[in-house]
Amino acid sequence: MSAKPKTVHLADYTTPPYLVDEVALAFDLDEEHTDVHSTLTVRRAPGTPADCPLRLDGEDLTLLSLALDRQPLNGDAYTLDDHGLTVSEVPETFTLEIATRLRPQDNTQLQGLYRSGGMFCTQCEAEGFRRITYFPDRPDVMARYTVTVTADKRRYPILLSNGNPVANGDLDNGRHWVRWQDPFPKPSYLFALVAGDLHCHEDRHTTRSGRDIRLAIYTEHENAGRTAHAMDSLKAAMHWDELTYGLECDLDNYLVVAVGDFNMGAMENKGLNIFNTQYILARPDVATDADYVNIEAVIGHEYFHNWTGNRVTLRDWFQLSLKEGLTVFREQQFSAYQGAPAVRRIQEVRTLRAAQFPEDAGPMAHPVRPSEYAEINNFYTATVYMKGAEVIRMYHTLLGQEGFRRGLALYFERHDGQAVTCEDFLAAMADANDMDLARFGRWYEQSGTPVVSVDDAYDAATGTLTLTLRQHTEPTPDQREKHPLHIPIALGLVDSEGRDMPIRLADESAAPEAGTRVLELREQAQTFTISGLDERPTLSLLRGFSAPVKLDYEYTEETLAFLFANDNDEFNRWEAGQRLATRIMLRWVEDGPGEIPETFLAAFRQTLEDEQADPALVAEALTLPPESFIAEHMPVIRVDAIHQARETMRQGLAQALAPQLRAAYQRHRVDGTYRPRPEDIGRRRLRNLALDYLASIGDERALEQCLAHYDEADNMTDTMAALALLADSPEPRAAEALERFAERWRDDPLVLDKWFRVQALSRRPDVLERVRELTRHPAFDPRNPNRLRALVGAFCQGNAIGFHQSGGEGYNFLADWVIDLDPINPQVAARLTTALSRWRRYDEQRAAHMRTALERIEAQPSLSKDVSEVVTRSLERAYDNERTD
Ligand code: TRP
Ligand code: ZN
Repeated sequence: MSAKPKTVHLADYTTPPYLVDEVALAFDLDEEHTDVHSTLTVRRAPGTPADCPLRLDGEDLTLLSLALDRQPLNGDAYTLDDHGLTVSEVPETFTLEIATRLRPQDNTQLQGLYRSGGMFCTQCEAEGFRRITYFPDRPDVMARYTVTVTADKRRYPILLSNGNPVANGDLDNGRHWVRWQDPFPKPSYLFALVAGDLHCHEDRHTTRSGRDIRLAIYTEHENAGRTAHAMDSLKAAMHWDELTYGLECDLDNYLVVAVGDFNMGAMENKGLNIFNTQYILARPDVATDADYVNIEAVIGHEYFHNWTGNRVTLRDWFQLSLKEGLTVFREQQFSAYQGAPAVRRIQEVRTLRAAQFPEDAGPMAHPVRPSEYAEINNFYTATVYMKGAEVIRMYHTLLGQEGFRRGLALYFERHDGQAVTCEDFLAAMADANDMDLARFGRWYEQSGTPVVSVDDAYDAATGTLTLTLRQHTEPTPDQREKHPLHIPIALGLVDSEGRDMPIRLADESAAPEAGTRVLELREQAQTFTISGLDERPTLSLLRGFSAPVKLDYEYTEETLAFLFANDNDEFNRWEAGQRLATRIMLRWVEDGPGEIPETFLAAFRQTLEDEQADPALVAEALTLPPESFIAEHMPVIRVDAIHQARETMRQGLAQALAPQLRAAYQRHRVDGTYRPRPEDIGRRRLRNLALDYLASIGDERALEQCLAHYDEADNMTDTMAALALLADSPEPRAAEALERFAERWRDDPLVLDKWFRVQALSRRPDVLERVRELTRHPAFDPRNPNRLRALVGAFCQGNAIGFHQSGGEGYNFLADWVIDLDPINPQVAARLTTALSRWRRYDEQRAAHMRTALERIEAQPSLSKDVSEVVTRSLERAYDNERTD
């Protein structure tokens, strides 16, 4: 059994004993091996004792030479171990010259310097720089970098690094070099280098203050012609940040490179963003509407990091959400500004509930700012990113856009060029607005999803509504004690005509205008009195999802149907429909499927027939809650019963409303040139949803319609909608369509990923067999993270019914893959492992199988820190609330 990984604690943070002011790096790139010469200008930090040794991080490196102030150091002047190098005696200031040798072609972890396709590239966040050279690889050591890259000129005509090109030259052996200088001091995790034979899409942006910036997106040549949308998105993001926050790009060169092998989505390296091709490349015939939307969001995200992350960076990795939560929130604001804000909000909350709520209720639960970790790569989580963004959104809700902007401005005024903490951010927000946010700070420290329960009483004689709000957070495995949080509850009161009423709180003399008001819940329980009402209102609670909580309020089904039809808050209109559908399906899970209640059917029909409504919102309203959301409401997750309940609902609605669904399908055909604009996206979405319902009927006519939809599609959105449905079908003609697709797109990796994914997500009972077969397909390469996620990841994390087969076959399949993948790419292997971590939530038989699979992984010799941490947490940590005490 592998040793328990060593844990790092927030409480143990100490400032760096030595600081690095300048770094000069020289890379000699070669297919056989790459040599790196690093010259560091080092200074002892004030307060460090003179006899303090110098410690540098380093992993998987071959040290070629080491010199201090130009004197080569011999073996007894320093010590080497698996994690770095220690020089026992150093003067107060000095230069250190280090030569290391790497083998990028063998770097399958995709951290540090590695090869992807025909190019060299880097990924240094969080701790990849130590796989390039010995260095104090921590974000609070910030240095100025000069980088010289040398390589074969024919194979690597493009040589890139951070900042500006300052010199270049040719060598007589067919090699050439380029020198880059980054004027901004930065932490090592923002270092980047790229070398390859790349196509460049160039453009320019002039900032509001008149600075001219060169923009460039680099791709492999075969992807030229697929970067227009990314470029438009980049310019839109630059414009938006200037408009909204007065933040301009501080660089002369803003470069983006797309690489095919990448562990995550994209990386905000200073002036040289590196992207997963998935979030750059688009063309109507190869990318879906969702791809277009995601590209815009991720381009925005990495660009916004230039201020929130790069100009002001992190003191330590526990503060990760300081940059990620804030940048996700800025990305969300940008996406909403670009179009369809309510749709965007609905989708954000859907993913939060599907990914973050379960995490917060399982053995990996951790606060937005974790207090301990073994492997930081395991903490790039839904909690840090999405719940972190919800925390930022709550500041915004409490302070308003103006107050929030003031707070952000103060944050930059105080901390530009520094490495700081979440407290620094909170203090800037509080000070700029003269607001007490002390209790609000608990959102960073407390894990678990709070439940807010609401009781109301209406006194008709005085026209007074009394609302009692209570909050409660269950203990989580990482944290037993929970305390009250500061929670903004956006409230609307809806009259019987569907209009918002004015909300006058007890101590106010005049009634404000009708509309939403934010109640601030700070205590465990609090009562709010609202007066001046002329009828009993219907409560519209937590409008826009104003806090990442679960709401507990006794709505009747009639009230939910009323809000579904009438709420003035678009998000809550959707929410009412989800609640209603969830309630019915939960009943069916208990008692077996029954009839669809007339109230629900009528509401559904009405929405479908409403030709005035925004098709995008109609589509959201008519999309049934995912199985994972229903599961969250159950003490023991019953996978089959949930699936059956949802499928019954889907078919029942289709059968009852087939004519209306066919009419919607006809009405929303989008003619003309493909454009990824919100209006068209909404109509395609509704049309494809109608097709999905109709397909559930499963008759000959449904199959014909899917095949016709597939054949007629002139864009990838429609093609994939049809293909996903065909992948559910046992008909030979459906299989033929899948084959034709594979044949047509055999040379297009991103499209082939889609082909693997739809099959991994198939509802067919023999899906696992098919997935196994696909792992032997010549195009399946587990070393490519996109491909692995498209097949193995999608099946294990996105196909509940397929993965959770009662005999445990899905779990064994996963365990086999984790074991095979761990030595190749531990970061991706660990992520896959989390599909097993919530084993305690399933019935006894499944729980036992999942646990066995975890134990089999645990028993592997030399397990990575990444996988080992996930397995250990999953097996050891019991729910406090499951204890019988
Ligand atoms: N900072 C990146 C972001 O924008 C996240 C990221 C990209 C990352 N690549 C990574 C994190 C590799 C860890 C390892 O969100
Ligand atoms: Zn980020």
